Parts: sequence; structure tokens; C-alpha cells
Amino acid sequence: MFEQLNAELAAVSGPVNTAATLPPACYADANVAELERDAVFRTAWIGLGRSDQWKTAGDYSAVTIAGIPTIVIRDKAGDLQAFANSCRHRGSLMLEGSGNSQAISCPFHRWTYSLDGALRGAPDMPDESVFKKCDHGLIPFRIAERDGFVFICYNNTTEDIDAWLGDFSKVHAPWKLDKLVTTHRLELEVNCNWKGFLEVFNEYYHLPYVHPTTVDGVYDRPDPAEKVSGRYATQFSTTDGTGGLLEGSQQYALPPMTWLDGRNRDGTRYTWLFPNMTFAASTEAIWVYEATPLETGKCRVIMTVCFPPETIEHEDFENRAKLYYDRMDAALGEDIPALLRYHQGLASPFAIQGRYCAELEPNVASFAMWYADSLKKKL
Ligand code: FES
Ligand SMILES: [Fe+2]
Repeated sequence: MFEQLNAELAAVSGPVNTAATLPPACYADANVAELERDAVFRTAWIGLGRSDQWKTAGDYSAVTIAGIPTIVIRDKAGDLQAFANSCRHRGSLMLEGSGNSQAISCPFHRWTYSLDGALRGAPDMPDESVFKKCDHGLIPFRIAERDGFVFICYNNTTEDIDAWLGDFSKVHAPWKLDKLVTTHRLELEVNCNWKGFLEVFNEYYHLPYVHPTTVDGVYDRPDPAEKVSGRYATQFSTTDGTGGLLEGSQQYALPPMTWLDGRNRDGTRYTWLFPNMTFAASTEAIWVYEATPLETGKCRVIMTVCFPPETIEHEDFENRAKLYYDRMDAALGEDIPALLRYHQGLASPFAIQGRYCAELEPNVASFAMWYADSLKKKL
């Protein structure tokens, strides 16, 4: 069934200037999407955005990733926990949405678990000689926090998070990412494959054609792609002004992070944490996108903008931060029509693999190579 796919994935390798792009089937074929779910979303460390979504004990979110209903919750010791959102009695969902709760209580028959997943209460069940509560705790998943980001993994044999990230923390140390605070969050659905959304954020090629009057003029030609050791790709570019504002609002820039120096004070680093989270580390702020599949041609996107705590104290912060959010909206407003066209063309039975511009799309190519390898391991 996957013979043609296998041959096409083999071409997604080698130097960026001769590698093929991902096969269109990876974006539009439901059978490949199923393979992707197992080979990528149920195997990799998946980005869940910023840690400060769960600030205090009991803060929780119910999310579904790769068809797995999941609870993310901060426990009383301050550690983040993740559990299958399937009750150990007869399997019901327990939590929905997000909020704060000092216990996880199933609405069906009221089995109740503590924040570390231990079963505490099960009404009318027999005593410990017959029914041992300790045998019926929630099913835990691996979860980790690094540099202010959260990662979850549904596979117990995948390497640990530090091996996965490699030199990520070292490369991003100048930005002190763990100090930054979320000030803005936006959720949207886009009618394209999730990979397409992350790709467009990570390439400079489209800037003059899709963003000619909004942000193109801010970005210089990017540095060459960097060799990194983790499961991510990153590319830096100096900017004329800040990448966080539109060309016409540059005079309202908030102060740069006080700890940045050298070229980092004068540009933006675009990083893609494989598979599903990407961010721009700019001089005053970072903006982060997570994308997950809903259908082959539809994805859920979450955007987060973060500033240093000192900047949030700035007397004109609210007004100026809004200009940063407006810039994100303006770029999205231009990217989304391009993404819809991209997906519709790619979904044609006559679409075939293309090639990359090595200077302007190396992050996209690095992801494609990692993704092709991930799929090939399961074929
Ligand atoms: S299914 Fe949860 S208590 Fe019965
Ligand atoms: Fe764009």
C-alpha cells in the first residue's frame, strides 16, 4: 500500500539543494495521516506550548492529541502531570476544557483521583481485601518542562526529553526563555495540513510575495542554516527594526530583553521544535505556534506571545503590546489565504514532489527529512 510513498520519502534526503519536498500524500492522504499519527504524534515529544498555562496546583487542561484524550495538571508538589483522560472505572472522560480543581473526579460514578493520579475515592466499591485502590490509579504519560515549554510523549521507549532536545537549551540560552511570561493567546482552525502551517512560519522565501508591505522590509537575508544536535531546526536573521512589529509601527517598539547582546539584540531566531511547535525569538518578545491535525486538510493552531516580566511593567505596555498582536494578526491574515491555496494545490492527484530554496527554506527541509525518517521507521 505504501510502496510509492516509501520511494518518494527516500528522495527527501541529502543536501537541501537537491532534496525533494515531502510527497503530497503526506498532506492529503488519510492513510498516510493514520501512519503519521502513530509514527509522529504517538512517538515524538509533542509541544504543548508554554508552562505558564498551568501556574498553580490544580490548574488543568483537557486536550486531545493524536486521538488520545489527555489531562495535563499541576500537582501539589509543583510538578506537571499528564494522564489518560479515561476513568479507571469504565473509561469515561473525566475533565473537559480547562480550569482549577484540587482533585480529578469522574462525573459518571464519582471515582475521584488526587492530582498525582492515585485513586482516592470510589463510592460503594468493596474494601481493600477485594478492591485495592492502588491498582486503579490513572494511566500516566511522560511530560516535561524545559525552557518554559511543555512537552508530552505517549511512547515509553522514545528517548528522554534532554536527548530529544539536544543542544536546544544551549542555542536558546541568550533569550532566557524560561523567564518569559505569556500575555496573549489565540486559538484558530486553518484549512490546511498542520505541516503547511508550520512550514510557512519557518521560511523566508514567501516574505516578498505574501507580505510585501507588512513585514518583508523588516527582515534581512537570513544566516545560513545551523547544524544542531536536537530534534529541531533554527535559522537566524538580522532585522531592520524588530520582527515583532509591522513596518509602519517600528517607532513603538518595547525595550529589548535586557540580557540580550551582540547580534541577538538586532534580529530574530526562527526555531521549529519537531514535530508541532515553532517560535520566533525576537529582541523584545517571543511568539509561539503549536499546530495539530484535525483532518488532513484542517489543523488547530494556538498562538502565544510572551514578554519579559520587566517589559510588562512598562507604563505603555498594553497599548504597545497590542501593536505586536496586530502584527501577528496581519501576518496571519496574509499567510492563511496562501496556505489555503497551498493545501488545495497540494491535494490534487497531479501534485508531485518539488525542491527547496536552500538559503531561504532550510528549516522546512530539515523538518521534512526528520519527518520522512520517522515515517520510514514505521513502514
Ligand atoms: S466511568 Fe468514571 S466513575 Fe464510572
Ligand atoms: Fe508568512
